[in-house]
Amino acid sequence: MDRISGSLALAIVCFSCAVAMGMTQMDVLTEQSKLKRCNHERVYEMYGAYCVGLRLQRIPSLKSGIEILDFSENRLQELKADTFTSYTSIKFLYLAENQMYNIDKDAFAPLSYLQTLDLSNNVILNLPETIFQLPALRKLYLKDNPLLHLSFANLQLHRPIKAPLELLDISNCKISVLPYWGTLPHLMHYNISHNPLTELEAKHFAPMCKLEKVDLTKSLDGLKLCNIKPTINWLQDKNVYFQLDDYSKLNTKEFEKCPDMTQNFVGLNVTHHVCKTAFMEFQSIKSSRRTWLTVTGGLAGFLVGFMLLLYLMHRHNVSQTKTKVEKLKKATPAHDPDKQATLPILVNDANDTSRL
Ligand SMILES: *[C@@H]1O[C@H](CO)[C@@H](O)[C@H](O)[C@H]1NC(C)=O
Ligand SMILES: *[C@@H]1O[C@H](CO)[C@@H](O)[C@H](O)[C@H]1NC(C)=O
Repeated sequence: MDRISGSLALAIVCFSCAVAMGMTQMDVLTEQSKLKRCNHERVYEMYGAYCVGLRLQRIPSLKSGIEILDFSENRLQELKADTFTSYTSIKFLYLAENQMYNIDKDAFAPLSYLQTLDLSNNVILNLPETIFQLPALRKLYLKDNPLLHLSFANLQLHRPIKAPLELLDISNCKISVLPYWGTLPHLMHYNISHNPLTELEAKHFAPMCKLEKVDLTKSLDGLKLCNIKPTINWLQDKNVYFQLDDYSKLNTKEFEKCPDMTQNFVGLNVTHHVCKTAFMEFQSIKSSRRTWLTVTGGLAGFLVGFMLLLYLMHRHNVSQTKTKVEKLKKATPAHDPDKQATLPILVNDANDTSRL
């Protein structure tokens, strides 16, 4: 909001100064097109390019090294294989509210540091599989893509998905059957609200062993109560919080009388266990990497400290020897008969320092 009001104020100022200086209409227009430039700013210690709401049809040339690109509310229609090749350090990419319908299968491949990808509110037909192989991707927003349901049937995912997804938002996408993602050991928040689901099965949640919250609001209207009971039981058993628009259905006699299907959980327990193992493996790799870093870091620090200590001791000794020599020089008159006597002391001193 601040940015919008800021640029508005700037536009008014430019307009008034243009009028004041008697500029032609052409000049005013060029002033306005300058305002369509992306801003480069440092936010949260990260360098970013902000191009929100500029009605741009393509991503203009930006400074390389940006870590944030906010290109929301523009008119981008497609992402090509080379769209991001110059911006490989992007961590946060916001492309919501564009007119995107075509994404090249390699468009995201150069973004190996990408953590958050927002593709909400577009008209995406086909999700490239490479999204799910991004090694750092933790948050993926796909909501409000009305045609997404077309692609899930032919979305051939290489499983397991490599992206360590923690949040997945596919709300409001007209999905009738949930995609089977395979093991997602890091997924905590899963938003599947506002979809016309025709089935909801526990098998869709079994490979998500860190799941904390599922939003099912307005997605269960077309389902029979007894058909969702096993899934509800599964989520309850795994302490997953699920959001519904109407919980009272679950307290009815009808729901209570539905047959108990928990014997089918045997296979699902295995799937769940596979997910837990994958998570633990990931954690142990992470912690061993951390230990390795700590050990090497500590060793390097120790060496640097030790060298510094040696250097300081050396400096100290050198300066002490110097002052002694100077003192002796001052203390001994030019033709002192004892002059020779000071030499052995100096020699002794020198021997002492070399022993240190
Ligand atoms: C899920 O998505 C809906 C619609 O996009 C949104 O209103 C809701 O707040 C989301 N739920 C959560 C838990 O974020
Ligand atoms: C599945 O695991 C749960 C514990 O997570 C256990 O209570 C339940 O009995 C198991 N079900 C089967 C059928 O093995």
